[in-house]
Amino acid sequence: MNPGGIGIAAALAAALGFVGLATAQTATPARSAAGPVLDGEALFKARCGYCHLEGGTGTMMLERRLGKDKALLGQRTDLPADYVKAVARHGLNSMPTITRVEVPDEEMERIAAFIASPKKAGRK
Ligand code: HEC
Repeated sequence: MNPGGIGIAAALAAALGFVGLATAQTATPARSAAGPVLDGEALFKARCGYCHLEGGTGTMMLERRLGKDKALLGQRTDLPADYVKAVARHGLNSMPTITRVEVPDEEMERIAAFIASPKKAGRK
């Protein structure tokens, strides 16, 4: 009938399985972290870290535009939570829009609260 049919179905199943696995893996560490502040920090590292930790493009662009003391988001104490959420949801210059599929509202709240928190001064 259709010799390619089974192959395509198998490839699709494998692809779906892979997506399922990848989602499960990224979701796990955030859920198991304890305490709301730590939780936000873990989420920040997991969801924003590849651009906003040392050496990330976000860190480099912020250093270029605002200076070294404003480069690392995790060390900033001058960013209100609402501003963080607005930038993340709408983008800013070369910062891309982060969708609710990538980072759900509940996680974004905790990330924004972490960045806005004054308690982390001096931490990475
Ligand atoms: C793909 C890389 C990338 C990711 C992922 C990313 N950002 Fe950014 N972000 C940037 C870049 C680049 C800038 C600098 C934009 C500019 O000013 O030119 C930036 C800037 C920002 C700013 C502005 C800071 C200021 O002083 O105005 C905030 C707030 C921010 N990001 C929050 C986040 C949050 C929260 C996340 C995770 C949910 C995130 N970003 C994920 C690249 C990224």
